[in-house]
Amino acid sequence: MATSEELRSKYGKLIEAAREASKLAYCPYSSYPVGAAVLTFDGVIYSGCNVENCSLTQTIHAEQTALVKAISEGALERAKQKGVSQLHFIEAIAVHAQRGKDPWPCCNCRQSLNEFGLDMLVVGEGPDCDIRAKKLSELIPHAFDMQLVLDSVRKG
Ligand code: THU
Ligand code: ZN
Repeated sequence: MATSEELRSKYGKLIEAAREASKLAYCPYSSYPVGAAVLTFDGVIYSGCNVENCSLTQTIHAEQTALVKAISEGALERAKQKGVSQLHFIEAIAVHAQRGKDPWPCCNCRQSLNEFGLDMLVVGEGPDCDIRAKKLSELIPHAFDMQLVLDSVRKG
């Protein structure tokens, strides 16, 4: 497993993008800004923040904003054209939340990311500004397998 210094040198720019994105958060109900940044297979970074809503349940999480931006800006399409599977088009996602907390995404976000591959690395700063990283597969033991649904739909 890579050390905190190795992770910072490899993903420092990504973590910085997540921190910057958190400054744009719209979170009047929680006062809990979160930023996330997705690194795609071809080195492009897409960042996003949480966007809350007075209905509360409609809140969009930072990880979802960053993921949706990557796809809607064409990253998945570029991957397809290069023969890169949807399960590998995201190399890593950095998450920035308040200091003193673990950086791991909530379980809804983990499931949103699961659609695009369990090999992606989730990175973020831990309580002591140390960089931590885990593969999404470590954060989702016994993940729901999309293949089950696809197979079922194909069988009709
Ligand atoms: N939040 C995220 O953006 N990502 C997560 O995975 C955890 C929670 C946001 C949602 C809400 O705006 C605030 O943090 C407090 O839950
Ligand atoms: Zn979430």
